Amino acid sequence: MKKTYVIGNWKMNKTIEEAIAFVHAINPMIPTYQQNGIIVGICPSYLALKDVVKNNKNLLVAAQNCHYKTNGAFTGEVSIPMLQEIGIRACLIGHSERRLYNQETNESCNQKLQQLLHSKMQPIYCVGETLAQYESLQTKQVIKEQIVQGLNNLTVEDVRGLIIAYEPVWSIGTGKNASSQIAQDICAYIRQLIKELYDSSVSREVAILYGGSVKVENVREYMQCSDVNGVLVGGASLQVDSFLQLIERI
Ligand code: PGA
Repeated sequence: MKKTYVIGNWKMNKTIEEAIAFVHAINPMIPTYQQNGIIVGICPSYLALKDVVKNNKNLLVAAQNCHYKTNGAFTGEVSIPMLQEIGIRACLIGHSERRLYNQETNESCNQKLQQLLHSKMQPIYCVGETLAQYESLQTKQVIKEQIVQGLNNLTVEDVRGLIIAYEPVWSIGTGKNASSQIAQDICAYIRQLIKELYDSSVSREVAILYGGSVKVENVREYMQCSDVNGVLVGGASLQVDSFLQLIERI
């Protein structure tokens, strides 16, 4: 059965206590979803990771960022071994908010992706164009650069296990979700790029998600797209009810 992913990105929301209450509420449903091929993931703050991953073995718990060095003089950063020590096996890379506010580039994403894969971690690599790029018809060019530069030096086997999330920046947190046609076109384009860079078997296997104002009302449209393997959800993942309703729609 092909896996479908529903990954909630909590961003800078929820205290440890709130995070524990949330996963406690959704936990009983997760095994059933899993039996139906749905992998449910959560990306809490660094501080809540340890408590969320503990006793929630069926959840894919991912950090929102990491540093590519294992240790050193990098004030405020968290390394991959530190994440692994508390049981974390996955990490978001290159979310547009990190590209915008933290000067994340395709090159820095690539360093992190290489290090995560070297450490047997599951990266979730985010790509997407800004509104200005979308309006000036540069979407495919931008996506191509993000994929080619971001995946530089990655092997076929590295890419086979990757999750890529296409998130048009203009749709994130704006309520203006991209049409399912756009999501399908760009996810298919990413698959085509992977085929050109690697081979067709890896292009079929790599998981590609859509993200950007995904809600209960529109999630099904995306799940009907042949090249979309799931969704990355921000706002609608913050409430237990809306998150569960969204998963039920898949
Ligand atoms: P949103 O965020 O669902 O609130 O638009 C998506 C994301 O940032 O991954």
